[in-house]
Amino acid sequence: MAKSSSELKQRKKEHIEICETDTPAFKSKTTGFEKYDFVHYALTEVALDEICFAADFFGKEINYPFMISCMTGGADEANNVNKKLAFCASELKIPLGLGSLRYALENPEYDENLLDIRQIAGGQPLIGNLGAAQIIQYQNNIAAIRRLSDLIKLDAFIIHLNPLQELMQKSGETNFKGLKPAIKNFVCEIGIPVIIKEVGAGISVRVAEELLSLGVAGIDVAGAGGTSWAGVEILRNKDNKNTEFWDWGLPTVSCLTSINAMDNRDSIKLIASGGINTAFDGAKSLALGADMFASARKILQTLQQGGVSNVISLVTGWFTSIRNIMFLTGSRTLKQFDASVLYRVKE
Ligand SMILES: Cc1cc2nc3c(=O)[nH]c(=O)nc-3n(C[C@H](O)[C@H](O)[C@H](O)COP(=O)(O)O)c2cc1C
Repeated sequence: MAKSSSELKQRKKEHIEICETDTPAFKSKTTGFEKYDFVHYALTEVALDEICFAADFFGKEINYPFMISCMTGGADEANNVNKKLAFCASELKIPLGLGSLRYALENPEYDENLLDIRQIAGGQPLIGNLGAAQIIQYQNNIAAIRRLSDLIKLDAFIIHLNPLQELMQKSGETNFKGLKPAIKNFVCEIGIPVIIKEVGAGISVRVAEELLSLGVAGIDVAGAGGTSWAGVEILRNKDNKNTEFWDWGLPTVSCLTSINAMDNRDSIKLIASGGINTAFDGAKSLALGADMFASARKILQTLQQGGVSNVISLVTGWFTSIRNIMFLTGSRTLKQFDASVLYRVKE
């Protein structure tokens, strides 16, 4: 195995180990969901049972407006995690964001594992994932990425923007010259919808506007307040004790509300993520304008502690609570469940 591939495997293993704990959480910055509470509507005329969460994900019907965020890929443990998550996605009928396909691009013998993941996920949406650095690196060889996409019949592709993580990583990528044309080229060439996400530092309105002009189909804000990827890399790098960037980033709620207010917002799928670890925060994200929400570390922790059955119970439990919240706010449909069901409790 090439040195870069073995380093990548080791890095992914360490990411999982660190993220199984709460140590990489933001220290003092929060998501912003705590600033809102629900307006109780005593005169509800909603029948609890009529509330339905079925949603569209780029042409496929899913059971809930929720997806498992991209987590890891390539290491043996990562491979196991993705197979278990594929099982959860298939049982729940929700999309699964795969972890980075970088390892798969460099190691064709990994194809078999990808085929297993597709088989386990059944017909549920599977979303490929690569970082900004690989989108630049492979801009003249999109065919290599399309080969993987065709192999496992990806439904969409997520590119993660992670300049903070790279900056904090030992030998991380700190040159993103040419990223915008590379994204535009990727969007034109890959043949499936492209979503852009951060990894916990958030997407600003300015970035969202630029992304729209590049033709992306979705934005996952992956904002601050949940997992700090500066924190993860600082924890991995024993030589770096400088924590000044640990809490860097735009809180999830400020990304979500500002992008939702954009004139051309309806032209994209808007996904809320970054520190969404409870039903109430998921519900608030939907009321604040997200088409769906997503979660990473909470899902990983639940999986590692209690296996696939606990992940399935967690997500179904969240939507039982969200159904109750909709009932208590007089919202029959997700369309009706908008910002009017919330009030601000703090500035
Ligand atoms: C163990 C682990 C591995 C991750 N690997 C990836 C990855 O390969 N690609 C990616 O786009 N995001 C990756 N992420 C970032 C998440 O998708 C997510 O954006 C981030 O953790 C913030 O969400 P959270 O607060 O719910 O954890 C990873 C997250 C975890 C916990």
